[in-house]
Amino acid sequence: MIKNDLFLRALKGETVERPPVWMMRQAGRYLPEFIAIREKYDFFTRCRTPELASEITVQPIRRYGMDAAILFSDILVIPQAMNIEVEMKPNVGPWLPNPIRSQKDVDNVIVPDIDETLGYVMEAIKATKELLNDEIPLIGFAGSPWTILCYCVQGQGSKNFDKAKEFCFTQPVAAHTLLQKITDTTIAYLKEKVKAGVNAVQIFDSWGGMLSPVDYQEFSWKYINQIIEALKDDAPVIAFGKGCWFALEDMANSNASALGVDWTVSPKVARKLTGNKITLQGNFDPVRLLSPPKVIKTMVKEMIDEFGKDKYIVNLGHGILPHIPLDNAKAFIDAVKEYNN
Ligand code: CP3
Repeated sequence: MIKNDLFLRALKGETVERPPVWMMRQAGRYLPEFIAIREKYDFFTRCRTPELASEITVQPIRRYGMDAAILFSDILVIPQAMNIEVEMKPNVGPWLPNPIRSQKDVDNVIVPDIDETLGYVMEAIKATKELLNDEIPLIGFAGSPWTILCYCVQGQGSKNFDKAKEFCFTQPVAAHTLLQKITDTTIAYLKEKVKAGVNAVQIFDSWGGMLSPVDYQEFSWKYINQIIEALKDDAPVIAFGKGCWFALEDMANSNASALGVDWTVSPKVARKLTGNKITLQGNFDPVRLLSPPKVIKTMVKEMIDEFGKDKYIVNLGHGILPHIPLDNAKAFIDAVKEYNN
């Protein structure tokens, strides 16, 4: 059905001619055609207008021909739908004027009706599927419950999310109630996304690496695993944990179809920890895209050789940065397409 199904085959662990490639945060950020749209419409207008969201989603595909598209949206549409105010301040990032700090605040958080609150995302998916015309798969996503809690409690980005951690450690009952509400909402949301047409889903645990291995199990992985269990029969699930190499062994025993890893773990160690039994995705240092294109190409080839071409999806270890030169992003994608061992 999907003409280029390399990505879906890699998720199943099938033997492929070459690994598939896409880049986290490929939609938005660095493309001039995206910046032109950003100048005209504010962030959540872009998310809520299917014509804009679908256009931004396919922009990088037109330019570079990745093997999968990721829907333009944001992980923070979930707290918005749950009755938590979220603003996106230019040059600041997420800003939540009324952060959650008590059990009473948690009680005011709702588990919403998805169609009513996030129907616009499903419309964006349908519009994108039309533009993609079954050429490549479309990825849907959500933040992990812990990463969403980080923003809800901290109220903004942070170097250590100390207030979020303090909330978990001093008010664990309230924290777990909030995490469960986010989990329930996320499961319903991702199921709707699959119904609307996405071919796989990725859970971004961007701040999982802020937690100790023991706390990670209690406050993050437990909830991610609930989402994986609920979604596994609907679509392949990719779990990306930034800085979470310490949990790879447990993650490999889950029903996820793939695990995303960042550049702080070597391919060899990641394979060893996961027993070679699950597809891995990653893990090029996003700042390495500032190296000259020739160096990028050599490093990408080495990275594929080290992970092995099968059970592997080429990606960055975190999102692409806004100031990456267009030719360098192209070198990254082209190196994978030119790969033969
Ligand atoms: O991957 C894609 O290209 C699809 C779109 C996407 C966005 N955000 C668009 C966006 C995705 C998958 C996300 C996920 C996201 N959002 C994460 C997890 C991934 C990660 O990078 O760790 C997180 C932590 C957020 C929260 C968020 N949204 C932050 C911290 C910011 C500000 C800084 C920045 O640019 O990332 C945003 C805003 C945002 N989300 C922008 C874009 C293109 C930039 C603001 C703008 O376009 O006006």
